[in-house]
Amino acid sequence: MSRTIIVSNRLPTKILRTENTLTFQPSEGGLATGLGSIYRQDGNVWVGWPGLFVESEEEEQHVRQELEADSMAPVFLTEAEIHDFYEGFSNSTLWPTFHYFTQFATYEQSHWEAYVAVNEKFCQAVLEMAGPDDTIWVHDYQLLLLPEMLRRARPDCTIGFFLHIPFPSHELIRVLPWRNELLQGMLGADLIGFHTYGYMRHFLSAVSQLLGLNSQNGQLQTPTRTVLVDAFPMGIDYDRYAQAAASEAALAHEAEYREALRTTRVILSIDRLDYTKGIAQRLRAFEVLLQRYPEWAERVSLIMVVVPSRDQVAQYASLKEEIDEIVGRINAQYRTIYWTPIHYFYRSFPLEELAALYRIAEVALVTPMRDGMNLVAKEFIASKADQRGVLILSERAGAARELSDALIINPTDTGQLAEAMHDALVMPEEEQMQRMAAMQALVQQYNVFSWTKLFMDRLSYAKIKQLTLATETLDTSTTTQLVTEYQAAERRLLLLDYDGTLAGFNTNPQRARPDEEMLLLLQRLAENPRNRVVVISGRDRTTLQNWLGHLPIDFIAEHGVWLRRAGEEWTLFQTLRNDWKTEIRPILELYVSRTAGSFIEDKEYSLVWHYRRADAELSAMRARELVSHLTFLASNTDLQVMEGNKVIEIKNAGINKGTAASRWVAEYEPDFIVAIGDDRTDEDTFGAMPPEAYTIKVGSAPRSLARFHVRGTTDVRQLLRKLL
Ligand code: UDP
Ligand code: G6P
Repeated sequence: MSRTIIVSNRLPTKILRTENTLTFQPSEGGLATGLGSIYRQDGNVWVGWPGLFVESEEEEQHVRQELEADSMAPVFLTEAEIHDFYEGFSNSTLWPTFHYFTQFATYEQSHWEAYVAVNEKFCQAVLEMAGPDDTIWVHDYQLLLLPEMLRRARPDCTIGFFLHIPFPSHELIRVLPWRNELLQGMLGADLIGFHTYGYMRHFLSAVSQLLGLNSQNGQLQTPTRTVLVDAFPMGIDYDRYAQAAASEAALAHEAEYREALRTTRVILSIDRLDYTKGIAQRLRAFEVLLQRYPEWAERVSLIMVVVPSRDQVAQYASLKEEIDEIVGRINAQYRTIYWTPIHYFYRSFPLEELAALYRIAEVALVTPMRDGMNLVAKEFIASKADQRGVLILSERAGAARELSDALIINPTDTGQLAEAMHDALVMPEEEQMQRMAAMQALVQQYNVFSWTKLFMDRLSYAKIKQLTLATETLDTSTTTQLVTEYQAAERRLLLLDYDGTLAGFNTNPQRARPDEEMLLLLQRLAENPRNRVVVISGRDRTTLQNWLGHLPIDFIAEHGVWLRRAGEEWTLFQTLRNDWKTEIRPILELYVSRTAGSFIEDKEYSLVWHYRRADAELSAMRARELVSHLTFLASNTDLQVMEGNKVIEIKNAGINKGTAASRWVAEYEPDFIVAIGDDRTDEDTFGAMPPEAYTIKVGSAPRSLARFHVRGTTDVRQLLRKLL
């Protein structure tokens, strides 16, 4: 039976050592509480760190057994790993960077090395338990390298990845010295999920800017696979919170609190201790409220729960001091014998007590500086059976994309926040209920179960799509068969594209000259009298002539316009016009002037706009614009617009690599054909070949007419060497 293996740094259970005993208790944090309701289903298992340093083999065994009984598999981390991987790279490099706090980020090589090593450790743990049909679902920023590591070990396995924190603008990602490795790590997954469309967009632009990979509608083309990228705003286990809030225990706690607080109204804030949560700013705003509206004195208290978190990281320790200081100051200044302005708790609460706090609060303050989603906001909503209560929500929490009926504020605007608190306290009940009802309907519908289902369905779809659309990999057995057929054949035709197939790409096309190995390979293949080697390229004939003209090979240049058989003269495919160039060139010039780094190549019978060296995203946009512009102009002419790899070419219609290659097939009557190419223009060649030909696409593509694909130019060289 196939199951889901959930992998995250922290398990939903954390183990504490108190004197001589171990206590198992639920972990805090949105990832653990959010997924906590689903991992026990269908034989699933959750792999992660239990938050404890084990002291002996027996203890390790004991912990393992206890956790296994509850569908968890521990990965034990050493103190050094916690220091360098967890407190170091995860929480002093990635966490601040991804939350736009680069001023707190450190960049230590040793922390990076520990991050790689611990990701490897998780990889081993997962591989030990994952069967071939299992789905692996990796979570969060501590394990960004894991998808790719798993992919390397199991090329065909199903891997999902979900990021629970924001994905920032690529401008922040590019600050990281290890940015490419991190992005590549994520790309090992089949599906990559984010809480919001904004995070997804940032990710796609980072991948485009830094790795040069393009995407369309969330489908990302890597050299080997199609990866789906999408937004899945995470929900909560709505019923669990609604039921907890309605429980006897919660009601009893609420009654207790009410008695202690008497008639004081309650504003609530609950977070882990974190500089991203805007806790200090929130306190200052509460102070402004008391200054501006003295009538709230003795009538409103802030109950503030701060859950201890990552206290070994310097920024967290100093934030704790800052909060203690502000709370102390405000309380000292405003408190009376009958009233405490801020009830501050630095600890975690069990569910029923949290539920009682959600019940008693009239206003919830969820005002992070940055937050991937923020589940506290949703839990507050689910707890409000009587639909009274107001949510004040930061526009920079992922939840704000969904909860538009909250009072949405900018958390750095202390004045606005103070006003929002006042507005919330005086909001008519009817309005409260309207807003709350709308938010409840949404949070109930988009709960954690529908979130999981949506992600999993999309992951299956990603897999099916890869299997149905992708061409078959040219594996060892097919290669052997290809070589056997080649050896037996008398008249072999080899159609080889140049850029991206024989040679790798260079930002300057004139630098992609053939190397010694390529020249030798072509020479030796062409020397065999049973072979006919044709280099079939979009390049102009002069370049091909200069680079390869001395070899005994044939050429198809300018996408089929110019032809040359070995030792003969160049001929035109057919008589062509190029008077259209005077009209088209100024248009391309306009695009060059608007897009720095792009340039025009003027070939005898075509014009090409190259944009490989231009800003990736800007030029991709310009390219779309140019294609529609040219297609419109070309619609009533005999011109065609062709899109290649970072090039747009306009030329006479009816001539392409395929029509030219067909001539070779007709004239030479080969009994074996191999045609290799990498871009859209090579699809014409593939399409023109008889079905038994070995058509091979270099790189992945969602759609190709080729029968097989290989990863890159290295694989092409290897194949050609095998033929020799
Ligand atoms: N939480 C908890 N115990 C507490 C306080 C909070 O378990 O004493 C939970 C809270 O119910 C919520 C989670 O911690 O589910 C915090 O998740 P959120 O997404 O709001 O923030 P994160 O900590 O993930 O940044
Ligand atoms: C956030 C992160 C989680 C993390 C949690 C608690 O929710 O997205 O990955 O587990 O905070 O932090 P901790 O460092 O205690 O695991």
